[in-house]
Amino acid sequence: MSRRTFVLATLAAAALLALPSVVTAAPADISARPIPTENRAAMLPIELNINGEKHRLELDPRTALLDALRGNLHLTGTKKGCDHGQCGACTVHLDGHSALSCLTLAVMAQGKAITTIEGLAKGDTLHPMQAAFIKHDAFQCGYCTPGQIMSATALLADPHTRHGSAVEIREAMSGNLCRCAAYPNIIAAIEEAQRA
Ligand code: FES
Ligand code: FES
Repeated sequence: MSRRTFVLATLAAAALLALPSVVTAAPADISARPIPTENRAAMLPIELNINGEKHRLELDPRTALLDALRGNLHLTGTKKGCDHGQCGACTVHLDGHSALSCLTLAVMAQGKAITTIEGLAKGDTLHPMQAAFIKHDAFQCGYCTPGQIMSATALLADPHTRHGSAVEIREAMSGNLCRCAAYPNIIAAIEEAQRA
């Protein structure tokens, strides 16, 4: 089996589980550690609406949404890249708009509809953007892919950017870095989803 065949087969299988597991190769996955809870007096009860489900948590009010998703709720499809708002790997949707979960306090996301990569597929049916990424081989290591897909779906859901040219798509996606430089395939995948 060639490397490409292997990667595609792996991605297709993982995509049926809403993609997250194929892109979980974080080095040592240190960002999946639960948030320490020893100082309980400082903890805040919060409720997050994620992918249509309510989750009640007790969190340090300084907890980033990214850490709550990964460390507390084990939704590891959302990736931690830079943790400084520079790479886009942690992109999720808040009320349908893309947002960097590493720069968003979990407490500030209360009352909003949070969508993560796990929430895009409908059962066994991939979101058209996920299918387009597979069709166009729009990834290599896959680490940036959940963030790319979340930004791309928000881009196409916005009537102001939905019909953009390739140049405009590139500009709109410029906050999502791909260290494997799969950019031409990512743009091709978005254009495919744009036509769907
Ligand atoms: S991890 Fe959030 S922008 Fe890089
Ligand atoms: S596919 Fe490797 S970082 Fe984008």
